[in-house]
Amino acid sequence: MKPINVGLLGIGTVGGGTFTVLKRNEEEITRRAGRPIRITTVADKNLELARSVAGEGVKLTDDAFSVVTDPEIDIVVELIGGYGVARELVMKAIENGKHVVTANKALLAVHGNEIFAAAQKKGVMVAFEAAVAGGIPIIKALREGLSANRIQWLAGIINGTTNFILSEMRDKGLPFAEVLKEAQALGYAEADPTFDIEGVDAAHKATLMASIAFGVPVQFDKTYVEGITKLEAADIKYAEQLGYRIKLLGIARRREQGIELRVHPTLIPAKRLIANVEGAMNAVLVQGDAVGATLYYGKGAGAEPTASAVIADLVDVTRLHTADPEHRVPHLAFQPDQISELPV
Ligand code: HSE
Repeated sequence: MKPINVGLLGIGTVGGGTFTVLKRNEEEITRRAGRPIRITTVADKNLELARSVAGEGVKLTDDAFSVVTDPEIDIVVELIGGYGVARELVMKAIENGKHVVTANKALLAVHGNEIFAAAQKKGVMVAFEAAVAGGIPIIKALREGLSANRIQWLAGIINGTTNFILSEMRDKGLPFAEVLKEAQALGYAEADPTFDIEGVDAAHKATLMASIAFGVPVQFDKTYVEGITKLEAADIKYAEQLGYRIKLLGIARRREQGIELRVHPTLIPAKRLIANVEGAMNAVLVQGDAVGATLYYGKGAGAEPTASAVIADLVDVTRLHTADPEHRVPHLAFQPDQISELPV
């Protein structure tokens, strides 16, 4: 089987997790994708780090533009982050007919309309499961699992850092600044933690979910954003005494006038499932007219949970969107001729 060639831009935590999981679960992933997925090239400024993560046999470069223009590359995985060079690289990759898989919520929330339009025009896919709620397959749930529904609203704990801070403040009575430092040390926080604590990261993710759920353009600039920096330990304690938990929610709701999008700390009755999502975990509630309420829960950050989403997108793009009918696996998660080889 001819492998699909992937170029990886940025070899941080998630890049490392992607290598680990691709290797560990190679057999399953190949079976589901219909052909092997190979990271053939890695671009990173730190070539030493790249070599130690990627191992031998992977081409390394510090020139990411050479990857997005390389005719041998089928899919570009963008894990650089931010809106600057990442935007140029993604646009260049699309221009060169590459499919793109990205975990970059900030980029898509701000420039998504331009990027998706360019991809559509070129006939390539931009997949971003890893951009929202880490390992929880919420984009696929909204786009595929719930595709029969008119989505009425969704609400989620979609920033692990702030949920961790609120949980630790409540459970241990620790001050905000101290818990933020802990969240940074644990690797949950963004490079600029202001994005986490001011609600911007959650707003990026809510914007992307709303776009998929309601079929509207990405509208980050229309989102009401309020973070958790004004909360004090006393607020959390009083909420507890009244039978509530405070959670930073990203909310998108269909209204007669249009789509309402907001991120802010919310009082939730302590008995509700979502009020009991603790630490850096994420959870998203989605209300559809046919299915009713559904709840998705899991790790919202970290090397392997995020790699799980990146690879799921690689599998999807490989199965469904590569112009190679011979290797296409239209709707099965297995290849019929391999069934007998599976353990029973
Ligand atoms: N800073 C993000 C969070 C990382 O805390 O949820 C995952 O997007």
